Amino acid sequence: MKKTSLIVVAAATIIFACSPGKPQVAQEDTSIPQAETVPAPAANQQDPRKGLGEVKHVTLKTPLEQDRVRRGEEIYEMKCGACHKLTDERLVGPGWKGVTQRRHPEWIMNMVTNVDVMLDQDAEAQKLLELCLTRMPNQNVSIGDARDVLEFMRSNDGQK
Ligand code: HEC
Repeated sequence: MKKTSLIVVAAATIIFACSPGKPQVAQEDTSIPQAETVPAPAANQQDPRKGLGEVKHVTLKTPLEQDRVRRGEEIYEMKCGACHKLTDERLVGPGWKGVTQRRHPEWIMNMVTNVDVMLDQDAEAQKLLELCLTRMPNQNVSIGDARDVLEFMRSNDGQK
């Protein structure tokens, strides 16, 4: 965990260091930055249907994990229900009916945990923004909580 965040920090530093507009300086001592640039592009090259963010792979189980469904429903009621219905009707954001068929599980979790980047860079998220005209707020949902909500969405879509 700690190691991962170090890599993320290192990667972020390198991305900023490589941002356009920076004058190109001849690098004499390239050994350290060269070695560390490797994970950064790889981390960004993800299947676009999975969205952008930390969530790269989700394992779904059948039958549903009922503990998660229950926790997910509580989170929905506290943090999401003001804007999302469980039907296909739009409130502030789209209704959740069918969302697990429309979207990959990774995309859903990245949308929930990394909404600002998704709205700025993911084509599908941007289409929704054009439709809804309101930015979904970042509510600091943890990856674990997002996973629980995903399970609740699966249950709402009739999966057993
Ligand atoms: C203040 C209103 C608001 C709240 C609260 C909110 N959302 Fe959203 N959500 C939106 C809007 C609006 C969109 C459409 C994208 C946009 O315009 O930002 C959206 C889009 C989504 C999508 C994509 C839906 C689709 O059809 O592809 C998911 C998934 C989602 N939200 C999950 C959540 C979860 C989970 C929570 C609670 C933790 C939550 N949202 C809380 C407003 C909200």
